[in-house]
Amino acid sequence: MDFKLKGKSAIICASSKGLGKACAKALAEEGVHVWLSARTKETLEAARQEIAAISSAGVHTVVADVTTPEGRDALLKACPTPDILVNNAGGPPPGNFRDWGQQEWFDAVNANMFSAIDMIRRTLDGMVERKFGRIVNITSVAVKLPQAELGLSNGARAGLTGFIAGIAREPAQHNVTINNLLPGFIDTDRMRGVLKAKSDATGADLDQFSDAFFERLPAKRPGIPDEFGATCAFLCSQQAAYITAQNILMDGGLYPGTF
Ligand SMILES: NC(=O)c1ccc[n+]([C@@H]2O[C@H](COP(=O)([O-])OP(=O)(O)OC[C@H]3O[C@@H](n4cnc5c(N)ncnc54)[C@H](OP(=O)(O)O)[C@@H]3O)[C@@H](O)[C@H]2O)c1
Repeated sequence: MDFKLKGKSAIICASSKGLGKACAKALAEEGVHVWLSARTKETLEAARQEIAAISSAGVHTVVADVTTPEGRDALLKACPTPDILVNNAGGPPPGNFRDWGQQEWFDAVNANMFSAIDMIRRTLDGMVERKFGRIVNITSVAVKLPQAELGLSNGARAGLTGFIAGIAREPAQHNVTINNLLPGFIDTDRMRGVLKAKSDATGADLDQFSDAFFERLPAKRPGIPDEFGATCAFLCSQQAAYITAQNILMDGGLYPGTF
């Protein structure tokens, strides 16, 4: 299927590795000019080369911390009028809520709620004027299936989800959609870190814990980043214009509810 995105421009936040990189790759394969970002220059350049090798679209990089105003300024200076915005940032550390004070909470809310809101604030009206826009926020299965040790993520991402629910419908009449994509156990560095924290908490061997964990999932395996990227690209497609304000799980069936 041709997603009819050739020549569009996209900012993909936090995209030198993992889910962000997979989204950038899938969009670039559709002929979208992509602006990748991350804090570490070397891995960002490696991602640029990897994506440039499979796409003739422009692949650009901005070394930036998306959780800072300066980082977001740099991204928007490099690509001032994106057609597509994929919001993403590193996840907060796992732990025990009794150990988290004001700073830990402010950091999580800043990274996983406010940064996305600020990027939307600064790009949405331009998309509305140009009568095309796609915003995808990478959140987490934890929004629907909270996990005790990921309290900072549960809380901050639920805040973003509530905010999006409030603003996502009005732009639909202008062909601008806003959706959240909720990963659960997609095979990235972050996923392996979360599994290690879980296995450490039980004193179990990591490999045995991981095997048993995935055996309990309906899909019986972790997700593949490219599967996640393809879904992101579809949400950005012309064909997906009628999908907005949704929370779309990509968790191999982990979440057991009807809705
Ligand atoms: N993988 C999963 O199954 C899963 C499940 C639920 C939620 N999530 C969430 O999805 C998001 C992406 O996860 P992932 O699995 O792709 O993680 P990952 O493999 O660890 O990749 C994280 C990427 O984000 C960049 N990054 C981190 N902090 C940044 C910042 N402040 N500014 C700019 N770039 C930043 C990293 O590069 P630098 O470090 O060089 O900046 C890297 O490119 C995270 O919030 C994670 O918690 C993932």
